[in-house]
Amino acid sequence: MCGIIGLVSKKEVSSTLLEGLKRLEYRGYDSSGIATISNEKIERVRSKGNLSFLEEKLLNSSLPGNIGIGHTRWATHGSPEEKNAHPHITDKVAVVHNGIIENNNQLRNQLIEAGVEFSSDTDTEVVCHIITSYLNTGLSAYDSIRATMSDVRGTYAFGVLILNEPNKLFAVRGGSPLAIGSANNENFIGSDTYSLSAYSDNITYLKDGDVAEIENDSYRIFDHSNSLVEREKQSIIESITLSEKGIFKHFMLKEIHEQPEVIAKSLSNYIDMDNGVLNIPNLPHDLSTITNVTLVACGSSYYAGLIARDWFEKFTNIKVDVEIASEFRYREAPMASNGLTIFISQSGETADTLAALKHCKYLGQKTISIVNVGDSSMCRNSDASLKIYAGPEIGVASTKAFTCQLGVLACLAIKIGTSNGSLSEYQEKEYVKSLLSVPRLISNTLDKEDEIKNLAHDLSNITTTLYLGRGQMYPVAMEGALKLKEISYVHAEGYPAGEMKHGPIALLEKDLPVFIMSPSNNLYEKTVSNLNEVIARDASVILFTDKEGLDNIGLLKNKIKAFVLDKSDIISAPFIYTIPNQLIAYYIALLKGTDVDQPRNLAKSVTVE
Ligand code: G6P
Repeated sequence: MCGIIGLVSKKEVSSTLLEGLKRLEYRGYDSSGIATISNEKIERVRSKGNLSFLEEKLLNSSLPGNIGIGHTRWATHGSPEEKNAHPHITDKVAVVHNGIIENNNQLRNQLIEAGVEFSSDTDTEVVCHIITSYLNTGLSAYDSIRATMSDVRGTYAFGVLILNEPNKLFAVRGGSPLAIGSANNENFIGSDTYSLSAYSDNITYLKDGDVAEIENDSYRIFDHSNSLVEREKQSIIESITLSEKGIFKHFMLKEIHEQPEVIAKSLSNYIDMDNGVLNIPNLPHDLSTITNVTLVACGSSYYAGLIARDWFEKFTNIKVDVEIASEFRYREAPMASNGLTIFISQSGETADTLAALKHCKYLGQKTISIVNVGDSSMCRNSDASLKIYAGPEIGVASTKAFTCQLGVLACLAIKIGTSNGSLSEYQEKEYVKSLLSVPRLISNTLDKEDEIKNLAHDLSNITTTLYLGRGQMYPVAMEGALKLKEISYVHAEGYPAGEMKHGPIALLEKDLPVFIMSPSNNLYEKTVSNLNEVIARDASVILFTDKEGLDNIGLLKNKIKAFVLDKSDIISAPFIYTIPNQLIAYYIALLKGTDVDQPRNLAKSVTVE
């Protein structure tokens, strides 16, 4: 999703802004641009497509100036063309924007009636013209920005340059994240910690309604009531090296391999390792009285919620609903008065999940967010938040954040189960033991990477596929299908194995690859029946199971491709069976030559509805 970078310095800024934009690439974008103020003029260079095109343009047209703003755009209003790329400018103002202006049409019509000519289809250009019109009435730069904020409705973060204030960078927050990073004699703005972490060791997040006036050696923040305020400075703890690719060809592969380490780190925050019991920080809720649990999320985080439903139901004996945030927020579903709603989000900024959180707070629900990015909007808006400690996830397709979410969700489910008396101390210890075995079991699975790579090689020409599973393996199958779709653009459907005969079975034909995930548990035999249905229609089965599972199917194993994983249980199975799916998607994408870390049309953090 759109990313903002800005810099005010004593030195030339365009090359640093370009570097900053590279650190925003992972969020997903389709065009980019930079504007600076130099020689009493606003200058800008923009380009459609990859940043390398912008880089090439910058080589040919130098962009001087000690102050500037840059942007990676993910199209909402207007197609991904150069004319719609940010920054948008007038003769006095340049603006970069992350978010959506909801009353864009109305404002645009008013401006057109007033004689303004537009050069793009974007909502951002409207903002640019409104600020300019206020400046034209004689208002100061700050007052013009404030007045504009009263006119626009929606969510936004703006970086603004004003020609008659050539030493000040303005940063505005109204719903979308924006932060200030300071270094020696220069100050930055950026959409996230990662974009700022290369330049600054501390970061100050703006709050909604804030406008910051930033110079190279100082900055001042004014809140919604125009009062000068101090906002907390936080140190950037995640080191830059953590965010580099190292020996790996892609961030996604690196992040797949980081899983044993980051899950162990994540669990260590919620488990007392010496005693093998949970050690979750005090939550502001009485967990023993909760009557309903609702899990709300989007994308992979939603699938993590579906997997966790099994844990919550089995460990807590409480009714659990899992909701897609974009549907839930408009459904006006009745909520139990003593219900707990848990919001799952890597970024903590996904617009639909955030809106659902606000809706639930309004309904008086107890709220907990499970997020990767600390101090994200979801952290700040929920009663309590549990960080997953996956470290920066750069690949757009979620991998390590997904499995770390699972770890924290399992801890929370056990915690509620022990609090309401559904789980004994012995059961708690057994489940914790199982959780602690997860990093080792994932390592064992990663050791089989070459086998998976060969499998992917055989499948590199597939155009469509099914992923089947029962119980927890059903959401694991859906997450597997999502990974393949996202990065290799191969059509894939995740389906409950038992439901296949009600529709998808019609798709089966000779050699159609069907992935089946089935550890040897109480659902194994049922899944094998579905496997037989697939073989009977000449489709080609790739079965993920354990040794016992493979032994149990006897001669059937000669008719399928089997991939043997470690023995698992209700806690460890979803983790273990997720890994081969991640690797298959990765290696098929690699063979297809797609952009693994920044797949087309996708964004890492979806800050619009
Ligand atoms: C986007 C990302 C997915 C992610 C989803 C939800 O679609 O590409 O990887 O699962 O958003 O994001 P969140 O940050 O809320 O987990």
